[in-house]
Amino acid sequence: MNLKDAKIINEEWKFICEDCSNGEFAQIDYRDEGWDHIELPHDWDTYFAPKKENRSGAGGGYAHAGIGWYRKKIKISKDDLLKHVELIFEGIYMESEIYINGLKAGSQSYGYSTFVVDITDKLVEGDNLISVRVNNSKQPNSRWYTGSGIYRDVYIRKTSRQCLDYFGIKVETAEVTDDEKMAILDVKSSAINYEKEKKDVVIKWQLLDKKGQLSCKAGATLCLDSNETSHAATRMFVQRPILWEIDKPYLYTFVTQVFCDGELLDERRESVGIRTIAFSCDEGFKLNGEKIKIKGVCLHHDSGLFGSAFYKDIWEKRLNTLKDMGVNGIRCSHNPPAPGFLDLCDSMGFVVMDEICDEWMLGKNKNENYFSEEPSYGFSQFFCKDVKTELQRMIRRDYNHPSVILWSIGNEIPEQAFTDGPKIAKFLSDIVHEEDSIRLTTSACDNIASLPGIETKQEFMNEIDVVGYNYVGRWRERAERFYEDDKLVYPDRIMIGSENPSVCGDRGDYSQTRDFNDNYITASLTHEALWRFTASRDYVAGDFIWTGIDYLGESHWPRRGANFGAIDTAGFKKDAYYYFRSIWNEKDITLHLLPHWNFEGEEGTFKTVICYTNCERVKLYINDKLISEKASAPCPRYGAMNSWDDELRRFRPTTGDLHLTWDVPYEPGVLRAEGYMGDKVVKTCEVVTTKKPSSLEASVEKAGEFYLVEITARDEDGRAVPDVDSLISVVCSDNVEFIGMDAGNMQDLSGYKSDKRNMLAGKLLAAFKKKNKEETGSVLLSSEGLNSVNIEF
Ligand code: GAL
Repeated sequence: MNLKDAKIINEEWKFICEDCSNGEFAQIDYRDEGWDHIELPHDWDTYFAPKKENRSGAGGGYAHAGIGWYRKKIKISKDDLLKHVELIFEGIYMESEIYINGLKAGSQSYGYSTFVVDITDKLVEGDNLISVRVNNSKQPNSRWYTGSGIYRDVYIRKTSRQCLDYFGIKVETAEVTDDEKMAILDVKSSAINYEKEKKDVVIKWQLLDKKGQLSCKAGATLCLDSNETSHAATRMFVQRPILWEIDKPYLYTFVTQVFCDGELLDERRESVGIRTIAFSCDEGFKLNGEKIKIKGVCLHHDSGLFGSAFYKDIWEKRLNTLKDMGVNGIRCSHNPPAPGFLDLCDSMGFVVMDEICDEWMLGKNKNENYFSEEPSYGFSQFFCKDVKTELQRMIRRDYNHPSVILWSIGNEIPEQAFTDGPKIAKFLSDIVHEEDSIRLTTSACDNIASLPGIETKQEFMNEIDVVGYNYVGRWRERAERFYEDDKLVYPDRIMIGSENPSVCGDRGDYSQTRDFNDNYITASLTHEALWRFTASRDYVAGDFIWTGIDYLGESHWPRRGANFGAIDTAGFKKDAYYYFRSIWNEKDITLHLLPHWNFEGEEGTFKTVICYTNCERVKLYINDKLISEKASAPCPRYGAMNSWDDELRRFRPTTGDLHLTWDVPYEPGVLRAEGYMGDKVVKTCEVVTTKKPSSLEASVEKAGEFYLVEITARDEDGRAVPDVDSLISVVCSDNVEFIGMDAGNMQDLSGYKSDKRNMLAGKLLAAFKKKNKEETGSVLLSSEGLNSVNIEF
């Protein structure tokens, strides 16, 4: 939090997963000795293993849910009583009630919004009690895993009684001159006066560069009426701005200060970027005037064993992996993310589609049985009452993030097909435009050109600025023509692939038959066809695949989550990751072979070997015998540029697909690929038949306060064994808190905090934290028949 007087209060909370009958949990004299000592962020669902009978069901990942209470004591001094005091909750799932000293101070229904509770008049000098009731018992209420509890950071802000409005600072690049010598920023700040008398204040704005040097400044006087919010606005001119780009996401610090009689009353510092964004029907998306094809992924908010608790360091690691995959865009499906998530997108260089919800007035079914008549809860319960406030909060909170380029007013909204749909879409789009005159609206439509009765209405699409296509090739001839039919009929439509198929499957699964997903041999074909189209049509702004990372929920028992990601819940890369890297990461060379080469007993049978690469040619060898050489071409492919027979055109790939493939009779040994650029070998890749595992190897990485331990099964030659699921046990010393283990296996239904867990495809992730940071701690990892490993932190 970048507000001068805001302090994080994540420590020393108490928690119970129970409700009370008369509100006694909110009372000061209630004895909470038996409650758990916890730290925020906190998702109580991570304590429990999924259960088939849990009412959160298939959508919610069979999570425990229910009702929980939190309590925390805070000290308030005499001086504090003269201040304005508020609590800032970045997200509680869901239906929370906030009490101070037993008195209700606020409530919030939607579980993804940041909200502020004014607690000034409930405080007394000395000890005070914050208690929070969280009700996630109305189930099912989501089509994905939500987690339960105060799963994001909480701040207390004790400030002057004339202060900045948490939701009231807006900085946006209005223009950058063509020669990039000057940028114009539109700036607006809101301040509130909690006194009975009017007050004149001075607002000062400064833009500081990375070195802290002043780039430009401005100021205004503002008369603050009693108990009113007032606004001051200006334009600021930045000479020789350094622009925010995907590859060089330069951030300035924007400082807003409130002064009264020379005294600094309040201050906010936040990172901002200078950049222009534009969408057009012919050229897709432009950042700083340059065409950028969005190579995006949709992401839900959970992070495997951490549940929905938001840890910036954990997400930084996940986003780094996506960055390396070549991803440049994130769609926050289907809800506003944690503020820290957007900070990462700003500093790492991703463009973001920020989305408000998954349903409007018509609730969606969240059960295993899609046609079930059972009631379901969710945003539709409070859409009419709250949507305006929630949409405004999302825009006002996220406005200054240079990464945010689009506001989505909803995902696959059933009303897209009904008479009321266009009216509601207009209502929401108008709210967005009132809040933001630069960014455009979108909505992810899944039924464009689908069946009569559920088909998206043209009038609906007319009310959004950028039409989001979900599963654009789903219907009839569109499977090959994608956006083309609509481009002919609606040439002025701005189009984006808001959600399209990825390459699904469990990590390390090379079976040739699967129920729902394609097998490993055909996995990438659907995406390849779409990407060849998207990459070669300027008018399609880009694509967000479903999904970048596997997520909990949206599963069918006996699975706890969905395997649509290129990365699994534990953060391990699947083969799909290398597929995307080979087509999206243009800076680095990718050469990846699959499957593994451990097929004992299948000698002589043909195995299909797949290679994901951006090398021009690949030679494949089995035990040093050349099988054949194959060539691939970049996507999009270019024709002749100088003469009809110039180099590029003469380069003839052996396939139109974006991967190479060979059928190889299995023999144990070494499968080796050599990747060529011109005549040079630029990369090699080997897949080797391994022996049985003999030991465990652990590599430790620090992510903030967490120690993340990647455990690999190795054979006696030190090779990673790719096809074992050994059961790993963990024993921690006193100073170590065990957070959980995950192998990314959606069929493993044990709790993440269980001290025994099976590997998947020879790998497992374990997470720990030291209780006392000053002291050391150790962990013993073992598995029957394997050499165990002891780690010192
Ligand atoms: C889409 C939906 C996503 C997810 C996905 C699974 O239609 O927008 O939330 O459910 O399907 O395939």
